[in-house]
Amino acid sequence: MAKKNEVTRRQFLNYSLTGVGGFMAAGMLMPMVRFAIDPLLKEGAKQDFVPVMDTSEITNKPVRKEFKIDQVDGWYESEVTQSAWVYKDEKDEIVALSPVCKHLGCTVDWASNPAYPEQFFCPCHAGRYTKDGMNVPGTPPLAPLDVYNKKVQDGKLYLGKPEPR
Ligand code: FES
Repeated sequence: MAKKNEVTRRQFLNYSLTGVGGFMAAGMLMPMVRFAIDPLLKEGAKQDFVPVMDTSEITNKPVRKEFKIDQVDGWYESEVTQSAWVYKDEKDEIVALSPVCKHLGCTVDWASNPAYPEQFFCPCHAGRYTKDGMNVPGTPPLAPLDVYNKKVQDGKLYLGKPEPR
């Protein structure tokens, strides 16, 4: 007669097989799940710094420089062209601004509106930004232009990812 709380041979086999089966299933499923979500586990949109121009070319007047970056979007990798407005401010610091308007994403130009010769101007809805990229109150954009992460190495300006401020 089986005592109370004693595990029968049938129960022992059931527990053992369930445990081993679960362990084997986890061993097979984990690599598949890891493969499926792999792009999500990578650091999101990490962008390396890319050389854009010689620092000796940079003056106080904003110039638009284009450069190419490798963009990884999930499993899809492509080369895309980006651009930045680059200049030196009054403290001789290099500034690199994103040209993407913070209203609806058009491209801003420097001094393209004769009425505002010292401002960035967005032709889509007459958005304006001061030279440091701050949005002019009363115009459509509600935020300043994004600023590129940057570094200078061996006389070259390298730009990374643009960041909001
Ligand atoms: S998109 Fe630039 S002002 Fe509207």
